[in-house]
Amino acid sequence: MRFNSANINVMVKASSQASKIIIRDFGELEKLQVSLKGPGDFVTASDKKVEKILIDELQKARPDYSILSEEIGEIKNKNKDFRWIIDPIDGTNNFMHAIPHFAISIALEHKSEIICGVIFDPIKNELFFAEKGNGSFLNNQRIRVSSRKEIENSILFSSGHNEEYKKISNKIISPVRNFGSAALDLAYVAAGRCDACWEKNINYWDIAAGLILIKEAGGFISDLQGNNNYLENRTILATNSGINKDMINLFNS
Ligand code: IPD
Ligand code: CA
Ligand code: CA
Repeated sequence: MRFNSANINVMVKASSQASKIIIRDFGELEKLQVSLKGPGDFVTASDKKVEKILIDELQKARPDYSILSEEIGEIKNKNKDFRWIIDPIDGTNNFMHAIPHFAISIALEHKSEIICGVIFDPIKNELFFAEKGNGSFLNNQRIRVSSRKEIENSILFSSGHNEEYKKISNKIISPVRNFGSAALDLAYVAAGRCDACWEKNINYWDIAAGLILIKEAGGFISDLQGNNNYLENRTILATNSGINKDMINLFNS
C-alpha cells in the first residue's frame, strides 16, 4: 500500500481473513452446482461465516465502533460516531452459480460521512480501497475515473433488472453490461475500467465503500435525476466527469 492508514489496514486485514473462507467455499460450489440439493443453503451459510469473521476482526481492532451489516443488521456499540458498513459478499448470485465475480465490501463512517472504503475481489485478488483526502487505489496503484467524453463510445454497467437498459443501450455502441455486483461496478468506474454505472433498488451496504472510491477517484455520484437523494431513492448513478451531464440528460429525456 502506498499510504499507511490504520483504518484501511484494519479493513484489509479483516477482508483478507474472510477471503480465505470465501475461496475455500467457492471451490466447493462447482460440485454443488450439479447436486440435486443445489448450493442455496451452503451459500447462505458462507455469507454468515464471512460476515462473522469480518465482524470479529473489526471488533478486535476497534471494539467500540458500531456496525451495520447486511445479514446481522445494526449493532449499536459505545461509539456511535464511528460505524462499519459491511456487505460480506456482494454478488451472491454469482457466487452461488460459481461465477468468479463478487466482493467483500466494507466502509467506515464517521458522523454519517464515509471516510474509508475497501472492496476486495478475492478470486481476482484485487483490492480496491480509498480514504477521504488520500485518493483511491487498486492494489498499490492510484486509480482515477476514465477521461472519456462521449457516451457513444463508453462502456456502461448496471447490475440488476431495470427498465433503463433499453433506453441507454440504444445510445451506445456496446450494450450495457450486467455483471451482478453493484460494489464491483462502482470499483470499476473508480478504476476507469468503465465510464459509468447505475444501480436501482440498492441498499446502503451495496454502495457504501464504492461511494468513497468514486469520489476519491474524481468521479461523480447522484441519483438518476442528478440530485443528491441517492440513498433515499435507492438509485445511484456514478460517472466520470466527461459524460456526467449527458448521462443525467439521457435518463431524463
Ligand atoms: C446485490 C448485487 C446486485 C444488485 C442487487 C444487490 P447481494 O447484492 O449487488 O448486483 O443488483 O441490488 O442486492 O445480494 O449480492 O449482496
Ligand atoms: Ca450487496
Ligand atoms: Ca451480500
